[in-house]
Amino acid sequence: MRKILESAGKLERFMPDMTAWRRHLHMHPELSFREERTSAWIAERLREIGCDEVRTGVGGHGVVAVIRGAKSGPVVALRADIDALPIQDEKEVPYRSTVPGVMHACGHDAHTAALLGVAAHCAAERDGLIGERRLLFQPAEEVTPGGAIGMIEDGALDGVSAIYGVHLWTPLPYGAIASGPGPVMATEDEFFAEIRGRGGHGGMPHEAIDAIAAGAAFVQAAQTIVSRMVDPLDAAVVSIGSIQAGSAPNIIAEVCRLSGTVRTFEPAVRALVQERLRAVADAVGRQFGAECAIEWRDGYPPVVNDEREAERFFEVARGLFGDGAVRRIRPLMAGEDFAYYLKRVPGCFMFVGAGNAECGAVWPHHHPRFDIDERAMLTAARLLAAMADHYAAEAASSC
Ligand code: NI
Repeated sequence: MRKILESAGKLERFMPDMTAWRRHLHMHPELSFREERTSAWIAERLREIGCDEVRTGVGGHGVVAVIRGAKSGPVVALRADIDALPIQDEKEVPYRSTVPGVMHACGHDAHTAALLGVAAHCAAERDGLIGERRLLFQPAEEVTPGGAIGMIEDGALDGVSAIYGVHLWTPLPYGAIASGPGPVMATEDEFFAEIRGRGGHGGMPHEAIDAIAAGAAFVQAAQTIVSRMVDPLDAAVVSIGSIQAGSAPNIIAEVCRLSGTVRTFEPAVRALVQERLRAVADAVGRQFGAECAIEWRDGYPPVVNDEREAERFFEVARGLFGDGAVRRIRPLMAGEDFAYYLKRVPGCFMFVGAGNAECGAVWPHHHPRFDIDERAMLTAARLLAAMADHYAAEAASSC
């Protein structure tokens, strides 16, 4: 353990590089599934660093780098996501986004920079490295079906024994680190409802079928699914995020379209919510004499950490950062396609505190003024490197 902690300590020398890399990425963000320049830039950096292999075009714009240690051992994967969001950057900083309407508002730029730091570290420390490090730079985390599936189909996990990933997290203060066993992030599904009534004159509603009145009934009834039908001890969210209908005060709308997101952890709860939403759509349609069609789109499964790997997290993180810094996470109702990797190999997804009022890192993720305490990149890089080293040392000593 001492050697692992010492080695992770050496990552500090790459902090200036990580900062410069993150700021470059921050200034040049690209949307999900369109990370062409980003992935070419990452591959260039990885070649400069001297990785043993750099594969591009993995599952779209994914990049996979391989560093082989001098000592034989398992293949351990580490993953960063690389995509940005359709948000206008409203920060007043020198590294603000140069692309109108596109911004790294979730910290994926910092994940990428931290993993590049790990690449540089592993390449420099190759002689002492046990086994292989496979670094996955994954596109399209923000938009379902996500980039993870494509990377897995393209062989990114072949031969991998364990995988780790982090999310920098501004609701957590800089210095704190959190994770835990079992489900830590939710399943996120989407639904799209279309209520089709019959348009007409606002003064003669009895001759029309009011899609807006039906839409309002749909919203009300949908809100009783979680409050009245899901077991209060099970977690679930139904949020209706958009509603569109109508064109003028005196016209009864023919069509009302609604969309929303459903967050759950348990498959049975997920099925119940889906079934109840369909029942609501049927009932509203019948009540108003409208047609109410609902389309359900499966999103990411829950992120479920392996029990043993979560124990490893507590051991490694306490060793690196001290007992006081390490927290057991309360599961989040946000989703992550890291879930797909964890369905195939054991691993752990971890949250690294990046909030700090002193440097303006006070805004939530996906906010136009989102920013991080950049020192959290070093925390993330040290944690990733040490988790992989710890796994590899344990596996090598047991065979
Ligand atoms: Ni994110």
